[in-house]
Amino acid sequence: MVLPDLCLERNREKTDIEYINLDLDLKPVFKGKKYFLRTYGCQMNVHDSEEIKYYLENLGYDACDTLEDADIVVLNTCAIRENAKDKVYGYLGRCKHLKSLKKDLIICLAGCLMQEPHEIENIRQNHPYIDIIVGTHNLYDLPKLIAKASGKQNIEVYSNSDKVYENIRYSRDSKISAWINIAYGCDKFCTYCIVPYTRGRERSRKMENILEEVKYLKNHGYLEVTLLGQNVNAYGKDLNLGYDFAILLEEVAKIGIARIRFVTSHPWNFTDQMIDVIAKYPNIMPYIHLPIQSGSDDILKKMNRKYTIEEYKELFNKIKKKIKNVSVTTDIIVGFPGETEEDFQKTLDIVEYCKYDGAYTFIYSKRVGTSAAKMPDPTPMSEKEERLRRLNEVVNKYSLMNNQKLLNKEVEVLVTGESEKGSNKVCGYTDTFKLVNIEGNKDLIGKIVKVKIIDAKSFSLDGIALPEEVKN
Ligand code: 5AD
Ligand code: SF4
Repeated sequence: MVLPDLCLERNREKTDIEYINLDLDLKPVFKGKKYFLRTYGCQMNVHDSEEIKYYLENLGYDACDTLEDADIVVLNTCAIRENAKDKVYGYLGRCKHLKSLKKDLIICLAGCLMQEPHEIENIRQNHPYIDIIVGTHNLYDLPKLIAKASGKQNIEVYSNSDKVYENIRYSRDSKISAWINIAYGCDKFCTYCIVPYTRGRERSRKMENILEEVKYLKNHGYLEVTLLGQNVNAYGKDLNLGYDFAILLEEVAKIGIARIRFVTSHPWNFTDQMIDVIAKYPNIMPYIHLPIQSGSDDILKKMNRKYTIEEYKELFNKIKKKIKNVSVTTDIIVGFPGETEEDFQKTLDIVEYCKYDGAYTFIYSKRVGTSAAKMPDPTPMSEKEERLRRLNEVVNKYSLMNNQKLLNKEVEVLVTGESEKGSNKVCGYTDTFKLVNIEGNKDLIGKIVKVKIIDAKSFSLDGIALPEEVKN
């Protein structure tokens, strides 16, 4: 058992990244058994769950939709805010009950929460019925840990994150749209954020391997790839090989896959070259998620965000001016330690200024081990909740306003699935990443179709499919 150490990670030395080719030989020894996998958190976790699924399915397990049918349960956890953690522990109650009825049920915890030493300690002390704990840096150990499961708790978590694995296999959820990790970890250390501790130092995959993966997906019929990184546009900085995110993006675009997206961009690493590449290639979608976090320079400084509001506005305006029809969304935290009403007003002001297409809004959540956790935080929770309510009002006003601009317009939608199981509606996303529910049958799934927008709400659009399919 190896336990991670948050402090060691904080003061980590820059050492060379080791590139390792994974070569696992899995046998379907659990044929006839079932797995139940539940994923919490961000796209990175969703994609990690596709790796977990690959291991489970190649060990012979079949997926099941109800916890009670499972022989193995895997919870892929998230640590970003306290409520993400509460959901995991809440669900563990059900798992514990099931294990009392089904003695050979295997319960496994994976993901970010498991990179926190105090959480592992808690599991060891208070949740002895959990069989396996595996960290974010070594998901490939899961088959080995399942084979060893024997009623004794098995923990395999590393704080060391100086490795990049290639040849990772996935059981992808979609045959249309795929996630691709281009970089792991984060070196920004925003003072509120646990990610640099749970995901380790920033490390990029080599460009040739990413391009191979895009080509493979295109050749297998995928129409869309989303390049993933906690700080996707810091890509390449650690490699020192003479290329950066703008260069990678251009090379991906040249492969000619129909749609390319990327998340999440840090304003500080957003270069003019990136803007030019996005503007130049029609297959790079005009959609940018650009977290601002706060509208107050004082708070941004305390958050260690590395930009001022003036700099953010300048970048925002450049993006709007150069990229035709671009939509921009953001993340905002209210109630950061010491945020005054005046600071909060500035957050409302920047939302009024940028008129975002959408925003994910959060109340600050204290994370043990981060530097903001030590800052005085006198604002009562009721006040923070009220700020969130006021913020959402403005955010929703602009989401609706931007969506309404599309009324009666024709847009191109990549149809990804049914709106609701059994309904006669399908759904998909516009190039600007707006969700559209479309009257039409399942034949449209997997196609890029022209859609006329007939209704607009804050969070989605309604449309009807026009006969002509978009050729790619
Ligand atoms: N509390 C609240 N929100 C947070 N985020 C990250 N850490 C915290 C925290 N401690 C938000 C940020 C980030 C998004 C993914 O989650 O807005 O951009
Ligand atoms: Fe967290 Fe900041 Fe890194 Fe984003 S950039 S993952 S908010 S530390």
